[in-house]
Order: sequence, then structure tokens, then C-alpha cells
Amino acid sequence: MKVRKAIFPVAGLGTRFLPATKSSPKEMLPLIDKPLVQYVVEEAVAAGIEQIIFVTGRTKRSIEDHFDSSPELESHLEEKGKDKTLQAVRDIADMVDIFYVRQKKALGLGHAILCARDFIGNEPFAVLLGDDIIDGSVPCLRQLLDLYEHYRGSVLALEQVPMEQISSYGCVAVNRITDRIMEITDMVEKPKREEAPSDMAIIGRYVLTPAIFQILEKQEPGRGGEIQLTDAIKRLSADEAVYGCLFEGVRHDCGDKLGFLKATVDLALKRDEFKQEFGDYLREKMCCL
Ligand code: G1P
Repeated sequence: MKVRKAIFPVAGLGTRFLPATKSSPKEMLPLIDKPLVQYVVEEAVAAGIEQIIFVTGRTKRSIEDHFDSSPELESHLEEKGKDKTLQAVRDIADMVDIFYVRQKKALGLGHAILCARDFIGNEPFAVLLGDDIIDGSVPCLRQLLDLYEHYRGSVLALEQVPMEQISSYGCVAVNRITDRIMEITDMVEKPKREEAPSDMAIIGRYVLTPAIFQILEKQEPGRGGEIQLTDAIKRLSADEAVYGCLFEGVRHDCGDKLGFLKATVDLALKRDEFKQEFGDYLREKMCCL
């Protein structure tokens, strides 16, 4: 069955980015001129996703407004003859069908996914986490979907990270199938460095079979007292093969201030309008260090 639907859990409090995220969602922080969440929605659409559900919460209303039409703004741009900007604004609202459900309590990522169960039904689906902005020639989710279509099992995006960072991630043990593709044999959410089974971290892109919902329903709280998606996928892997994909592309952790800064520089240097002047500016700054 084709993967048509994607879940975007966006109810998190964004504490790593306070005070910027005190009253506005971290997903709306702009990378140059687009909010983080738009990059991820564009990735999902480019990968072939047709319907998105945001699992949202209080203080997240501006995400809904961003993906809605904006009649006042549109007629203002039309009057001023700003056709290019007008098209860009309209495209956001027309990109994909979007639905919303509220996660009333912050009980964890696993719980957020369970909130979208009725919308997903009995279909395989994707999960995209908004902190991870992935820049690659083939969208990261498309790489996962290609594997799903081949193996017909759940697929997680993986990246090798320095061991001193592994405790910030879900970590996997694997049997390698090829250099990039593996079968997952064990998973631990945010292990201590000495308990981590490898240096391979789960990155915020998943393709999951609907069997995960029955497991999540009964999943006890794990790390941090939260219902962890990682724990549920580990149990899923006892019943069905779960695969990992070392994706091709550059990932920026934009939930982190340094990661966000690096992403801004990287993306700016790729844009024709900034490349020259911003590059010169950075070179000048580097000379003073
Ligand atoms: C979540 C997952 C974790 C994964 C990470 C990727 O953690 O629980 O397994 O490695 O996303 O970004 P969070 O960063 O939301 O705490």
C-alpha cells in the first residue's frame, strides 16, 4: 500500500530555544525567510505525501495560520503588483491537505503519534520531526519510502553521530544489509554513552506500519517518564522486520541553537541572492578570529 499520509508532531514546548519559544512555536522560527516547519512540509510533499496531520497543542496556532490562505495579505500583494511574493504565499496554502489534532498533555512522542491514529487508520504512514532539517538531492523521506516499497517494513532514518552526543538520541543496534541499509536488532532511547549499542542515532524521519498503534496503546512510560516511540518500535521489531537507512544528505539539528546557526549559514551560502555578499562577509569575519 502506498504511503499517503504523514504525522507532524508539533506539540513540544521547545525549551532548548527559550526565550524565543515562550509564546511562539519553535516550528515557526525562520531559517532565512521560511519557518522551519515549511522546509519539512516541502520535503514530505516532494516525497509524495498527500495528507498531513499536525499533532498540535496550545500556543501553536500560528502554524495553522501559516498553512491557511491569507485573503488580506493576498489582496494587498495583488494591489502592489508583487506577483512573485503573492504566488509564494498562495503556494503555501495549496501545497497539501492539512489536518489538525490536539495533544492535550505532553506525554511523549509515542503518545503524540497515537493521537493521530483515527486519521491514519490501517495504512502505513510517515512521521517527520520538525527539528531536523535535511538538505539532500533526494528528499530524506523519499529515500525511506523507496526502502519501504522494497522491503514492506518500517524504516527509520539513521545517522552516525559522535559518541559524546549519542545520549541525545534514540540509538540502534543493526545487522548491515548494505553500506546504507540495515535491519535493526535493538533500540534504546537516549542511552548513556557506555550503554549505547552503537554510534547510530535515529533521526526525525520514520515510515511505520499501522501495527505500531496497538503497541503504543499499551506502551508504558520510558525515558523521562514519557511514552517513547523508540520503545514501541523496539517491540514492533519483535513481530516484523524494522529497517534503518543511513540517508544521503546533510542534517541540521535546528532545535539546537548552534545547529540552527549552522543551518542558516549553510542555506544562505546556497542561495544565489546571498552567496557572494554573505560569503565575503563571513571571510572577512574569519580573518578577525
Ligand atoms: C526524538 C526521538 C529520538 C530521536 C530524536 C531525533 O527525540 O525520541 O529517538 O533520536 O527525536 O531528533 P527528541 O529530540 O524529540 O527528544
